[in-house]
Amino acid sequence: MLQEFLTHLFTFAPRHVKKMGYLHELIAISARHKRCRSAWQPHLESSKNFIMQAVNLCPNRKKAVILGSGLLLDIPIPELSKAFEEVVLVDIAHLPATKWETRRYRNLSTLNADITGAAHAVYKTRRIVPLETTAWLPGCDSQTSLLISANTLSQLPLCPASFLAEKCRANEIDVQNWSKTLINAHLKRLANLTCTVCLITDRSISFKDESGRIQAVRDTLYGIRPEMELPDIRYKAQWQWEMAPLGELSRHCSMTMEVIGLICSK
Ligand SMILES: C[S@@+](CC[C@H](N)C(=O)[O-])C[C@H]1O[C@@H](n2cnc3c(N)ncnc32)[C@H](O)[C@@H]1O
Repeated sequence: MLQEFLTHLFTFAPRHVKKMGYLHELIAISARHKRCRSAWQPHLESSKNFIMQAVNLCPNRKKAVILGSGLLLDIPIPELSKAFEEVVLVDIAHLPATKWETRRYRNLSTLNADITGAAHAVYKTRRIVPLETTAWLPGCDSQTSLLISANTLSQLPLCPASFLAEKCRANEIDVQNWSKTLINAHLKRLANLTCTVCLITDRSISFKDESGRIQAVRDTLYGIRPEMELPDIRYKAQWQWEMAPLGELSRHCSMTMEVIGLICSK
C-alpha cells in the first residue's frame, strides 16, 4: 500500500490524469499482475504472439505505435524494437519503472497522451463532452507502418465514466451511451488508418463460482462487435484471460475475460 501511494505521489502525470483515477488504475494493474502473474501468463503470451503475427504482415517497418502500452506486459518490446526503425509507446501515463525499462532501447520512446481526446474536457467541464470526429490518434503519422491497440479498448470509458457518475452525478444512462460512443470512436479511428492495424481487446467477462460454473456474463464493449466495425480483417484469434482467479476478488468467485485479436491490412 505504501509503495503504491509513493508511486502515485512521485509519478509525473497531469492533474486530471491523477484526479480521474487513471494513474491509480495503472498502479492497481501493476499490483494485480504481481499477485496473478501465473494466471495472466497465457494471455500475455497470446497477446505478444498475436502482435508478432501483425509484424510479419507489415509490408514496411518504419514506425510502430502502441496505444495503451501501460506496463508493457503484453507487448513484445525487444522484437518490436528490432523489427522497426522507431517504436512509440502511447499511454495516458507511464510509471517510472516502465520509462526506466525502455531506456535500454535507443529507438523506443514513450508518449503520455489521451487516446480519446476527451479526458481533460470531461475533467474541466464535469460534463459529458462531444467527441471529436477527427481520425487523430496520438503518435500516428504518415510514417506509421503498424498501429497496435493493446488491451485498451474496453478501458477507455472506465475512468471518465466513474468520474462523471461519482463526482459529477451525471445520468447513468447518458454515461453508458457516451461510453459506447467512446469505444465506437476509437474503432472508427482505427478503421480510417491506412497502415496495418492490430487490435487486441477483451469483449466479455464471465464470473464463475468455485466449481468453475459460469454464474454471470457481462459484455465489456456495450454490445459493439469490433469485427463488424473494422475493414480488411486478415486474421482473427480468440483466447481467455484468467483476470482474477479464485481468491483475488473473493473466495467464491473468479473472473475470466474473453479476448479477441484482429489484424487489418489494406
Ligand atoms: C489493461 S491496460 C493495457 C495493458 C497494457 N498493454 C500492458 O501491457 O500493461 C489498459 C491501458 O490503457 C490505458 N488507458 C486507459 N485510458 C486511456 C486513454 N484515454 N488514453 C491513453 N491510455 C489509456 C491505461 O493507462 C492502461 O495502461
